[in-house]
Amino acid sequence: MASSTLSPVTPSQLCSSKSGMYCPSQSLFLKPMMMRSGKLGWGKDQRMKVSCMATSVPADDRVPDMGKRELMNLLLLGAVSLPTAIMVVPYAAFFVPPGLGGGTGGTVAKDALGNDVLADVWLKNHGPGDRTLTQGLKGDPTYLVVEKDRTLATYGINAVCTHLGCVVPWNPAENKFICPCHGSQYNNQGMVVRGPAPLSLALAHADIDEGKVVFVPWVETDFRTGEDPWWA
Ligand code: FES
Repeated sequence: MASSTLSPVTPSQLCSSKSGMYCPSQSLFLKPMMMRSGKLGWGKDQRMKVSCMATSVPADDRVPDMGKRELMNLLLLGAVSLPTAIMVVPYAAFFVPPGLGGGTGGTVAKDALGNDVLADVWLKNHGPGDRTLTQGLKGDPTYLVVEKDRTLATYGINAVCTHLGCVVPWNPAENKFICPCHGSQYNNQGMVVRGPAPLSLALAHADIDEGKVVFVPWVETDFRTGEDPWWA
């Protein structure tokens, strides 16, 4: 008895009309073959339906061209960069000290309510010899000084005691700053005149910029002692 067997075929053979196969789109029909009845479950003249697994698309056509790949890379870069910048910029700004952002490195003085101190308004409400606390550099309590001629002094006095850091109140009756914690005393310009405080109160420039009082770090010689500023 003659028998026929199916030899391995390649995808190109499966889709080739020369080998007697037909594959118009997704399927093909094999030419009628004599099959051993019963062994493969096919009878005589039965057609064998085989799915065509091959593709006729060249490999190069399945790879996007360079232009598309560059566009995809740019889109990916943009998608990653924007969220990264949104997260990194505020994080970096956290480490920048306040008050360094202006051109002069100054800080606008704030009153007890947190409002900017306007020089004209301040002088209307504070008489000669007045020393009133404002918020100064780095948030330190800083006295604004009104001179006897009703002008603002060009310096502010940091109210933090140089002994252990208490806020030193102004005592107009004594014409001194007297610390309530351990009794240190400073004259009306903040120079220490009695311990245990070891140093005078720190200074800051008090400038006027567009009508507002602006504190600027004092890095020059301390005019009260003739020495370099200990706080700079
Ligand atoms: S903290 Fe001012 S004298 Fe001690």
